[in-house]
Amino acid sequence: MQEQEIEKPILIAPSLMAANMLCLKDEVLAVQAAGADWLHLDIMDGHFVPNLTFGPDIISQIRTVCSLVFDVHLMVENVALCIDLYHKAGADHITIHAEATSNLSRFLKDIKDRGCKAGVSINPGTSIDAILPVLELVDQVLIMSVNPGFYGQKFIPSTLEKISSLAKIKKQRNLNFEIIVDGGVNPENSPSIIEAGARVLVAGNSVFKQDDYAKAIKSLK
Ligand code: DX5
Ligand code: ZN
Repeated sequence: MQEQEIEKPILIAPSLMAANMLCLKDEVLAVQAAGADWLHLDIMDGHFVPNLTFGPDIISQIRTVCSLVFDVHLMVENVALCIDLYHKAGADHITIHAEATSNLSRFLKDIKDRGCKAGVSINPGTSIDAILPVLELVDQVLIMSVNPGFYGQKFIPSTLEKISSLAKIKKQRNLNFEIIVDGGVNPENSPSIIEAGARVLVAGNSVFKQDDYAKAIKSLK
């Protein structure tokens, strides 16, 4: 792990798709009061992944009651359309998938030109080689530790090696992007994920399906 990383606090980004959709406002306010650092917003289009979540209207309404960083994770085929929609809806960070486009650098630049932080993500079956050419352009790299589409899945252990390799490359190239891990993170595996070099942990099940959100966030850190 890099020396500078040891000093930086671990950030927790609860994933709203695991919240109780019947009382979305209460859920957002509760997780904010519980000490969440970011709000992770999973956007699914039913094509790139076999599920649907919420759209820009819901995000812009949540924006009116919530001051957390909006970390938008786009699991969609139409990247160009969604960058525009979610930027306008209030995204602070927009992460796109390497598997979704052959124009990664163009879209990352588009995200940054809009004043958002730009992220790139890879699925468990995709090698980090796919993102090596764009590491200089990104503010964050999101490593998927489950196959995207659903919350509550089991963490894929081989992800740990991927995180360490990425952290090593980051150090070698003297880059500053954040390493985010998304999928199946829980208090049992979070120490090894952090040890491997991640600084931001996305958590759906491990926060929104627990009784005490503040305790859940604390135990992940
Ligand atoms: C999965 C999403 C994740 C998911 C995390 O495709 O990207 O953000 O909601 O949920 P857990 O922590 O339950 O795996
Ligand atoms: Zn996600």
